[in-house]
Amino acid sequence: MDPREEIRNRLGIEEVVGQYVQMKKSGRNFKACCPFHQEKTPSFIISPDKGLAYCFGCRKGGDIFAFVQEVENVTFPEALKILGEKAGIEVQQTFNKQTSERKQVILGLIEEAQRFFVSQLNANAAASKYLSDRGYDKKLQQQLGLGFAPDSFHELTKALETKGFSSQEILDAGLAAQKQVGDSNVYDRFRNRIMFPIHDTQGRLVAFGGRTLSKDDPAKYLNSPETKYYHKGQTLYCFHMAKQAIREQDQAIIVEGYFDALTCQAKGFPQTVASLGTALTEDQIKLLKRFTKNLLFAFDADPSGQAAASRSVEIAQRLGLNVSVITIPAGKDPDEALRTAPAEWEKMVAEAVPAVDYEIQKACKQHDIRSIQGKKSIAEYVLPIIQRLANAIEQEHYLKKLSLELDTSLRSLFVQLRGIKASYSPPQTDNNVSKVAEQPVPSRFEHLAGLITIHPQYSEQILSDINKENLERDEEKKLYTALSAQYNHSESKGQTESVISDEERQRLQFLELYAEENYSSFSQEDIATEVNDLTEAIRKDYQRRRLQELRYRMAKEPNNTDLATEYTQLLSQ
Ligand code: GTP
Ligand code: MN
Repeated sequence: MDPREEIRNRLGIEEVVGQYVQMKKSGRNFKACCPFHQEKTPSFIISPDKGLAYCFGCRKGGDIFAFVQEVENVTFPEALKILGEKAGIEVQQTFNKQTSERKQVILGLIEEAQRFFVSQLNANAAASKYLSDRGYDKKLQQQLGLGFAPDSFHELTKALETKGFSSQEILDAGLAAQKQVGDSNVYDRFRNRIMFPIHDTQGRLVAFGGRTLSKDDPAKYLNSPETKYYHKGQTLYCFHMAKQAIREQDQAIIVEGYFDALTCQAKGFPQTVASLGTALTEDQIKLLKRFTKNLLFAFDADPSGQAAASRSVEIAQRLGLNVSVITIPAGKDPDEALRTAPAEWEKMVAEAVPAVDYEIQKACKQHDIRSIQGKKSIAEYVLPIIQRLANAIEQEHYLKKLSLELDTSLRSLFVQLRGIKASYSPPQTDNNVSKVAEQPVPSRFEHLAGLITIHPQYSEQILSDINKENLERDEEKKLYTALSAQYNHSESKGQTESVISDEERQRLQFLELYAEENYSSFSQEDIATEVNDLTEAIRKDYQRRRLQELRYRMAKEPNNTDLATEYTQLLSQ
């Protein structure tokens, strides 16, 4: 039997989810506060019958595997392994033996490369001296696993081939490159560089970073490319060394660079990780969130460092974390600060300022706090930052602070803040938490879809009263098509086969679960009214949007009579 099926049969969804959240029985289902976003009223529904757990607030969840993937922030095979162990089923041997053997080969190759880089460092006086000049003596070099890639196009490749690895394997590990795909000549990717081993969250060596020793190399740093086993957006440099300390000290320091992280690690700040020169991704922040809620950002004072910091801070705040900023004097970085004046660095960490205070201070420095224009500019800059805080008490705290700074009333700031709420559209990130506030979920049409699944007698009426173009989002249009196929509505009649994708099938299951939860106490009459109300609201909504669009187009094309006809028709409906 497929190990997935076997595991599913042995573990109930409630058993798995119950280990992570406090559940309350609710009819045939359970309810809990969603582990994937901040909420006070439970909207996470766990259905033992369907084997599903799903949040209608942030649209996350699924079966036991999807749930564990999300909550543990792991890949599918890892979730399979975790649940396999729980169920007492040996997964490695049954599932995808080939993939796992292949992975062993590649990871073995990377280990071999690591040994090569270390021996090269020992053999190269200049490289060793570079590191000791930067404060890394032999012992530290060894302890941190630092290495050196010689200034050659094939020494590593040759060494690995001697050990029996193929050029394809060296390419797959990200250690070689080729001029063209299929080119049999592969060459070493890293040349004349100090090599930093990069580990995944479980501490397996998966990639390298290299700093050039040549003055005129345009790429000061070079990373392994994304490979099957190295996902940059999910890896934090030094995380495997730091996680214990992060948990114990209930705090993580995030720096930008390799040397920053290593110097912090070596000199008494083991709770440090590095983002490697970019903003943190949501995945990276979630990874940290499993260990602490307190993040301290120490990014460079230059514009790119500041931009990366603000983006990271924004995501972290939306995820409900406490974020502070360590202010480093311009031109310095943690590596330098800590090496030259450890006591000062310690002080900078101790004096880290909560991110919102930091932003308020920054804005007040940039504008004239006494002029009306200055006050307006400061408020315009700071209010959106306050608005995205996940916690209302925190929001109020900062509003009060801002009102004191600007000498304005709290009330007028509240009014301003509400104004932002209506017009503020969160920046495009893959951050689902931000989407939650945007629209009530499920949408009206999704409510109707759920109703159809539990009261199919309404399918014909609903799918005739609403047509696809009435729906605003592509997701809803797809759902409409799926429903038409499933309930054999005229849109799909005449088609030889009505296909409905697994994704849509699963969505319908979720919506069914939702409808069961929400409409169980409704009488037949209530249901009929609900169907009519929702249908009417969707049509009205569409009418309003369409009229607006028509007005806009009529203004541009005053002679287009079709537009005018449609406009009058719509108005009279
Ligand atoms: P040192 O000059 O060796 O002290 O490096 P640094 O860590 O202080 O470098 P810098 O402040 O210039 O950059 C911070 C981090 O950004 C580095 O550690 C790298 O992770 C990354 N970075 C900098 N330059 C490059 C580059 O040319 N390519 C890539 N991929 N990353 C870079
Ligand atoms: Mn530096």
